[in-house]
Amino acid sequence: AETERLKMVEAHELSAKWYHYLLMNTTHGAEALRYLRERGVSDKLIDQFMIGYAPPQWDTLARFLTARQFDPSLLERAGLLSAKNDGSGYVDRFRSRIMFPIRDRDGKATAFAGRVIGEGQPKYLNSPETKLFAKSRTLYNLHQARPSIRKTKQVVLFEGYMDVIKAWYAGIHNGVATMGTALTDEHCQVLARQANEVIVCYDGDDAGQSAALKSIAMLEKAGLKVMVSMLPKGKDPDEYIGEYGPEAFVREAIGQPVSATKFKLIYSRKNHILLTEEGRKNYLLEAVRIVAELDSSIEREVYLQELSREFDIDLQTLKQDSFQMREELQ
Ligand code: UTP
Ligand code: MN
Ligand code: MN
Ligand code: MN
Ligand code: MN
Repeated sequence: AETERLKMVEAHELSAKWYHYLLMNTTHGAEALRYLRERGVSDKLIDQFMIGYAPPQWDTLARFLTARQFDPSLLERAGLLSAKNDGSGYVDRFRSRIMFPIRDRDGKATAFAGRVIGEGQPKYLNSPETKLFAKSRTLYNLHQARPSIRKTKQVVLFEGYMDVIKAWYAGIHNGVATMGTALTDEHCQVLARQANEVIVCYDGDDAGQSAALKSIAMLEKAGLKVMVSMLPKGKDPDEYIGEYGPEAFVREAIGQPVSATKFKLIYSRKNHILLTEEGRKNYLLEAVRIVAELDSSIEREVYLQELSREFDIDLQTLKQDSFQMREELQ
């Protein structure tokens, strides 16, 4: 079983190099390379993340690896090949896609994400769950980010592969991402072992912001301090860097995160119509509930003062409500 694992890793390592070679050194990869460069992914970044290209033919990888004595059924169990429906053999799982190797914490390639060039569905095709690869535990780029995470005790959590890569270009070397699935408790534990603080930097669209809200709760439960980088409406980090440049991203987005509480307040506010009395009241109740969850009485007081000033409500009244809500939380 252990030798099967080793063979699977070896197959992934070879595949990653092969895909990278096809992208950089053959005419097959020309269109993909142009696409990457247009998106601001330099050759240096392509090397750093060993980005590659899987050509459209159905058996490019199958032939490459079986010529090197790999057993096709092992390659299928590893998620690199798919069995044909009629049982007559195997085809490459990834075709006509830009290939991102996914590595374990030791830096060994154990899976791939393959992006279509331009538009198409699915946008990213990921390896299936295998002996080597569990989405619920894997964080993209953790192996490269680890030194920086350990040094700063801080990690930046992104939604997408491209965000991690472009942030790296901007000098953010402690960035990781989940595999397009929601953050799990296992992810949080992995992060809590390396860092004290997480900056959540998800996409600025509704999906990203509501995912951030869920991730905050889980990260806090794992004992991490959570900050949130908020991007302008609808932008993701990769688009932000493309539009405003890497310096602005580091300065404005990563450099000025808001506290988790502030983020929750802003999020809640968007869901209430503050022009109506009913909306104001409901927002205030929710806001006080958010603040009541804070363990530090100083922090609670600071936020309650803000609310008191803004809504012209007696601070003592807010404190009383907050106190009651805390009793209920116990
Ligand atoms: P996004 O839709 O935000 O994609 O999904 P993106 O990262 O901005 O991708 P680009 O910039 O268009 O290339 C965020 C993440 O969700 C996962 C991927 O991990 C992606 O990076 N995802 C998304 C999938 O796994 N499959 C998909 O079809 C789409
Ligand atoms: Mn190279
Ligand atoms: Mn998104
Ligand atoms: Mn995105
Ligand atoms: Mn994007």
